[in-house]
Amino acid sequence: MQHVCIIGGGFMGAALAKYFLNAHVKVSLFEEFTTRRQELMADKTFQEVHFIERIEECKEVDFIIEAITENLQAKQQLFETIDDYFPASTTFCTNTSSYLISSIVENVKNKERVIGTHFFSPAHITPLVEVVPSAFTNSNHIQKTMTFLQSIDKKPVLLKKEIQGFVANRLQSALSREAMSLVQNGIVSTEELDFIAKWSLGVRLANTGPLEQRDINGLDTHMAIVKYVYPTLENGTEPLPIHEQLMTNKRFGMKTNRGFYDWSKTDKKQYLADKEKVLLNIINAVSAQDEEVGK
Ligand SMILES: NC(=O)c1ccc[n+]([C@@H]2O[C@H](COP(=O)([O-])OP(=O)(O)OC[C@H]3O[C@@H](n4cnc5c(N)ncnc54)[C@H](O)[C@@H]3O)[C@@H](O)[C@H]2O)c1
Repeated sequence: MQHVCIIGGGFMGAALAKYFLNAHVKVSLFEEFTTRRQELMADKTFQEVHFIERIEECKEVDFIIEAITENLQAKQQLFETIDDYFPASTTFCTNTSSYLISSIVENVKNKERVIGTHFFSPAHITPLVEVVPSAFTNSNHIQKTMTFLQSIDKKPVLLKKEIQGFVANRLQSALSREAMSLVQNGIVSTEELDFIAKWSLGVRLANTGPLEQRDINGLDTHMAIVKYVYPTLENGTEPLPIHEQLMTNKRFGMKTNRGFYDWSKTDKKQYLADKEKVLLNIINAVSAQDEEVGK
């Protein structure tokens, strides 16, 4: 049985614990905030998780899965600290959404065992994992990571080299910057923007990737479009004022009850459970189709 130690039991760490348990992987978990740790310990979903109070308590572990807050210094410090706790055979995975793995390991002695495994939310459901080596990552750790993820039915894709935000978050950042810009410029409301994205690109993206779709539509037509549209796209290198304004007002989204939308009257647990059901149906439909065409 493989053994993983998750560090950070927040949104992602908890979802990963759930997935690993279902895949019959032994799970240890270290969460630094006592209140959060107790909350997880009281939840039946996690009754088979081995909660630890110090990372060095974790023995004979195949993978460390770091899922702490997205803060470069905190991640650097964590990997430096735990480097001495585990033998060189233990693979260190970071779930960072954006940082270069080489930046995270800047001061780590055994850089060759650190690799990015970028899971997607909801991590107990979404199949893809971007596997991101740095120039230092050793091929044995890469192969071990890929084999493990395949063995638990994830769909890992190994990037040829690292880049900030990897692939999916670069695509997502480009889309969300343009979406915020369109709302900020009064072209559509928040609701209309989401409606348009969901019923056009959204439903189609589950079925055909953006490049395959361009082939289907015709690259010559696309050339005419981009020549006209590219110069008008949002291309600022700073967060947009509409986003800054939400931060100033502590509107962080669902977690603070306000973001682009008002979530204060929503049963969030139920809402997310309903969304998960739809996502599972989509995944099942796409998987069935892939199997039929032998992909
Ligand atoms: N939220 C997402 O949709 C998403 C998706 C993919 C990847 N990620 C990445 O996953 C990581 C975690 O994100 P999240 O959304 O779960 O954040 P989160 O804030 O929900 O959870 C982070 C948890 O880590 C704990 N923590 C912080 N420092 C710690 C430390 N040194 N030791 C132990 N625990 C510590 C915090 O108490 C918190 O419970 C980030 O790197 C993020 O970029 C997030």
